[in-house]
Amino acid sequence: MTRPEHVAIIMDGNGRWAVEKQRPRTFGHIKGAQTVKSIVTEAAKLDIKYLTLFAFSTENWRRPASEVDLLMRLLRRYLDNETENLMSENIRFRYIGNIAPLPEKVRERLSKTVDRTKSNTGMTLVLALNYGGRQEIVNTVRKILRDVKDHHLNPEAIDESIFSQYLDTAEYPDPDLLIRTSGESRISNFLLWQLSYTELYFTKKYWPDFKEEDLQDALNSFERRNRRFGATTPHTHPPLVVLSE
Ligand code: IPE
Ligand code: IPE
Ligand code: MG
Repeated sequence: MTRPEHVAIIMDGNGRWAVEKQRPRTFGHIKGAQTVKSIVTEAAKLDIKYLTLFAFSTENWRRPASEVDLLMRLLRRYLDNETENLMSENIRFRYIGNIAPLPEKVRERLSKTVDRTKSNTGMTLVLALNYGGRQEIVNTVRKILRDVKDHHLNPEAIDESIFSQYLDTAEYPDPDLLIRTSGESRISNFLLWQLSYTELYFTKKYWPDFKEEDLQDALNSFERRNRRFGATTPHTHPPLVVLSE
């Protein structure tokens, strides 16, 4: 069975899940946090090497302060409660995105969890926090320009691979499979550069209802895809493009 090495998930639909049950949106986020735990454990069991979860976008600051605050508290609670489970499951924890505007208590826990799990050799769990694909690309350009200005980088040498090394995701392969829950068929500013050849899987299930079997369904769908990367026959990786001038 061809397993994706890297699965990315846009965890969407917490609010609608709760509203349909005549409960406050916060209840949906609490349930959604439980889904995170079960899907992280399942993905590690299934031998997925990288799992990237979109937890908070650069656009999510537009929500009421009380909702943002609850999401931050849930994140803090997740890190407090789950770090030891991540240790027992041999999961390495990382994050992408600009965490500077996050509450200090959250940033503190983030670095603690990254540090505590850094030698784990199983799955890498990457949380996207205050992450936006466009913002990441703009920051990448800024970092590259700085290196050019300091004469550490020759502009003529910049290619896709060098560009990728300046992204937040430099250390991770591009996602093979992107799952979005809640029935929306859009990317919402997630991993814009990295998703160029990712297989997309949309499900109507709201995130709090997304179970282990649903992850398996997505993996089964992935297995049936033919990834050609622009070529005529299936490939498992993008073919090396060599253009002679
Ligand atoms: C996903 O659920 C959680 C975050 C974006 C943080 P939503 O809160 O977006 O739920 P819906 O889309 O409003 O139902
Ligand atoms: C995407 O969900 C962001 C996260 C899951 C963190 P949104 O609910 O914010 O996306 P839109 O607004 O429906 O595009
Ligand atoms: Mg949403």
